[in-house]
This record gives sequence, C-alpha cells and structure tokens, in this order.
Amino acid sequence: MYAERVVSGMRPTGALHLGHYHGVLVNWIKLQHEYPCLFFVADWHALTTNYDEPGNLHKNTTDMVADWLAAGLDPGEATLFVQSRIPEHAELHLLMSMMTPLGWLERVPTYKDQQEKLSHKDLSTYGFLGYPLLMAADILIYRADRVPVGEDQVPHLEFAREAARRFNHLYGREPGFEDKAREAVKKLGSKKSRLYDELRTRFQQEGDKAAREAAQALLEEVQHLSVIDRERLFGYLEGTGKQILVEPEALLTEAAKMPGLDGAKMSKSYGNTITLRDAPESVTKKIRAMPTDPARMRRTDPGDPQKCPVWQLHRIYSGEDCKAWVQQGCKSAGIGCLDCKQPVIESVLKELAPMRERARYYGENPEIITSILAEGCDRAREYARETMRDVREAMGISG
Ligand code: TRP
Ligand code: SF4
Repeated sequence: MYAERVVSGMRPTGALHLGHYHGVLVNWIKLQHEYPCLFFVADWHALTTNYDEPGNLHKNTTDMVADWLAAGLDPGEATLFVQSRIPEHAELHLLMSMMTPLGWLERVPTYKDQQEKLSHKDLSTYGFLGYPLLMAADILIYRADRVPVGEDQVPHLEFAREAARRFNHLYGREPGFEDKAREAVKKLGSKKSRLYDELRTRFQQEGDKAAREAAQALLEEVQHLSVIDRERLFGYLEGTGKQILVEPEALLTEAAKMPGLDGAKMSKSYGNTITLRDAPESVTKKIRAMPTDPARMRRTDPGDPQKCPVWQLHRIYSGEDCKAWVQQGCKSAGIGCLDCKQPVIESVLKELAPMRERARYYGENPEIITSILAEGCDRAREYARETMRDVREAMGISG
C-alpha cells in the first residue's frame, strides 16, 4: 500500500494547555500509528507575527517538545524536529518566491484578517505576507500527502496546493515528456499498463481520486521500473508534467472544542487555561473557582447547564450517566455546583497524571529531548535534501 506521508507544525508557544491537547495533540498521537508522520516546531513562523519580541524561542521550543512527549507523541513512531534546523525550508521558500504571484499572497484571507485583528502589531512586513508560502515550503519539502490542520489553516493548504501545481507546471516538463511517459507505460507490462491507463483516464476525466490512489499504489508495487520512469508515471497520472512536488490535502479534524475556565475558547492570552503541567492542587483550585450559571446565586436556585462553562467540560469528559446526573441535579437544584465540578476535576486529574509523570522524566533528563530532536532533524533533513535535489535540477540550478 502506498504510504501517505503526514506533516504538520505548531508554533512554539512554550508550555501547552488542554486546548492544544484536545484540539491538536490527541489527533497527532492517533495519526502517528497510522501514517509516517513528521511533526515540527514552526519557530520561524513565530517570527512572522512577533519579530519585535521573539522571547526565548529556543526555550519555548524545548518546553513545547517536552509537552508533546509528555502528552504521548512517540519519537519511535513520529519524526519530531525543528523548522529552523532544516535550512532547506528557507531555500525552497526562496526559490518558490520567484514564481509566486503577489496577488495570490495578498488574497489569502488570513492576511487581511490578521492585520485587522492584530492591529497593535506591525504586520506590514515581507515575512508576514510570505507566511503562507513558507508554510507551503514546510509541507512541500516533505512531499506530504496529508496535513492535519484546524479550520483556520485550510486556505493555507489550498495555497500550498496551488503553489505545487504551478511549480510542477513550470518546471516539470522535459522535452518529449509525453513520448517518454508512453514508453514507461509500456514497461509496466500489458496487464498493468492497461490498468494504469484506465485509472489515469478515470482520474483525469472524472476526477476520481480513488482511481488516482489505485494507480499510485500500482506504481509503488512495480519493482522493475527505474526511478525516473516511476516519477514520469506519477507525473503523467496527474497531468502532463513530471510531478516534482506533491499537492497536499488538508486532513480536517473533528477536534473537540476545548472551552477555557470562563467558557471562552481556551487560550493563553485570555488567561483561562489549565496547562499540561498544572499541579493537581492548581487544577482543583482552578476548576473550583470556575464561574457557573449566574442564575444559581444560592445553592437552592435551580440552574441551566447550557449557560454554564462547567457543563462544556462535562460534555468533553463525562459519560452519559454523569451528564444526566448534572442535567437533572442542576435544573432541580438537587446538586451544588461544587458537587457538579468534582467529577470534572477527577477526570482532568486522571488525564494529566501520566503526562505529569512523563514530563517529570523529561524535565530531569533534558538531554533526551536534545537527542530526540537531533535524530528527528537528521531524518527530516534527509527527506528535505532529496526534494531539494530534484527542485534544483528541475530549475536547472546545480550541476
Ligand atoms: N501555520 C500553522 C499555525 O499557525 C503552523 C504551521 C507552520 C504549519 N507550517 C506548517 C502547520 C505546515 C501545518 C503544516 O498553526
Ligand atoms: Fe454549572 Fe453544574 Fe452548577 Fe449547573 S450545577 S450551574 S452545570 S456547575
């Protein structure tokens, strides 16, 4: 089976909270068992909006990776690395900048949105405008098939697809490509070449993606093809040129929306988080102090869970029985708010306990993180170099 590659990145925000865990990490941890995965710290990206106050990027990077590991990312399964240590990302970004129309970047919806939202910041920089292209380079350099991202990043993925298509269109042609591709088809043998042609037609005429995948699987399996013929056939399948860069697809996650302690989205800037490193006493205190339905002034006042942020946590953490107990007890004033919070406190503590254990281990052995990242970077660099060789060759750069 053709193993699809997964790539995703996260800005180095330092210590992570339950919003990151439920929104992103739970999904990454699942994916690491299903695909070859590359997960990286997008430290250059942090500079696109924060060049004037970068803070300690190195420390934020190590802290965040410690939390990744504590949460359950396994360096034996996934490749974990740091963007800035693979300068090939920057090279691909530069080369692609030559052919990226300015209008494409200006039209990415997050460009104007963010400028308006973060109006206190100077975002009229070259780096900020080019941010989606840097993200495209992060993805394309690993020839990723799938990129797990949140809804907000989908336009960036679309941009990366268009950038890849444009690159392949501009540089994927070689003289006599069509003839060479037909020759390569013949080399598949009569049965397989007929199947390949059939699948290719289905994909090109009807956009049948399953047909494309089947054809890719077929090419992966064929033993006797040369690398160059195989590449030609991958390219011929997609269109007319050699496929040098792969168009990635967004892997949208139905992530649980993690509410913060006040019911708004959990976010460091709102000060409403429970971090993965919060001590049990702190978790207990924070949840106990959570506001509840304002109508429940006294213990004897009935309430409405819909109006209470604690209920949002029950929706994530509690089973049906417990949720029914909350609904009934709240509306009838049968239970107090502290009673209601207790099962949530217990669930969060239970979830965090093994993470705290692992975090302690990495805290006491920071050199392990250093070596995990060094190894991850080596592996990522190998992939990146391979792609860059092809990119330079296609653009006629190096000898
Ligand atoms: N832009 C992403 C964010 O802000 C982080 C990111 C950078 C990323 N490069 C990436 C995500 C490549 C996926 C793939 O959340
Ligand atoms: Fe919220 Fe529970 Fe109190 Fe109802 S009983 S207001 S759901 S904390």
